[in-house]
Amino acid sequence: MSNLIRETVTSVHHWNDTLFSFTTTRSQGLRFKNGHFTMIGLEIDNKPLLRAYSIASANYEEEMEFFSIKVQDGPLTKHLQKLSVGDEILVGTKPVGTLVADHLLPGKNLYLLSTGTGLAPFMSIIKDYEIYEQFDKVILTHGVRFVSELAYQDRIENELPNNEFFGEQVRDQLIYYPTVTREEFRNQGRLTDLITSGKLFEDIGLPQPNPETDRFMLCGSPAMLDDLTRILDDLGFEEARGGKAGHYVIERAFVEK
Ligand code: A2P
Repeated sequence: MSNLIRETVTSVHHWNDTLFSFTTTRSQGLRFKNGHFTMIGLEIDNKPLLRAYSIASANYEEEMEFFSIKVQDGPLTKHLQKLSVGDEILVGTKPVGTLVADHLLPGKNLYLLSTGTGLAPFMSIIKDYEIYEQFDKVILTHGVRFVSELAYQDRIENELPNNEFFGEQVRDQLIYYPTVTREEFRNQGRLTDLITSGKLFEDIGLPQPNPETDRFMLCGSPAMLDDLTRILDDLGFEEARGGKAGHYVIERAFVEK
């Protein structure tokens, strides 16, 4: 347990029947980069039961935030979804991950493509002041099945644009593009289809993707990552690998909970 510390839950928010998020205290030694993930979990039968979770809070914030699915018979989430304020949770002290801007070549537009709980690391990144200095536009997409799964909408659309420190950058530079696949919504369809048809770019008023100017971070299910990386590779984008900066980076949304 040497790489784990105990933090205390400070708030819990249930978005719907399948998704919830919570915040915890943050010990001083817990350092991370925006976009990183860490192990979190609970002590079950005197043993730590841990899963990887992206950190949804920014690295300058006082509290940690996590965004999770609720699986009725999920080994960890069947317990985790019952968390309440004051409960203790185990948090790994060594966050890591590939969704960091340093891994990308300089560019103009940064696309953050997520499905489901893959949104979590991007909630951290869109609160990073430096991202708005590195890129002209930051495009946050969130693909979900149902409207009720569009978590954090209000924070993205209403709170962040009014943030006293970087609200202006958010208003000028952040483009939020939620899309829903299984019911009516203003944007509909899978991100893969919206990219190959060009509709995403038309809708937001930006040019079709070009390796000279556009950078991508991807976080979602293995199938979504496979399909999107194939599309990007076909368009001439190269993944950042082994310390070499590239046009895009990927991380699995850790769904086996
Ligand atoms: P769909 O409703 O057409 O399956 P999930 O909850 O299964 O992870 O899906 C989250 C969202 O990601 C859904 O809108 C789903 O669309 C979409 N999705 C699933 N597989 C892919 C894929 N291979 N590429 C792009 N989007 C996907």
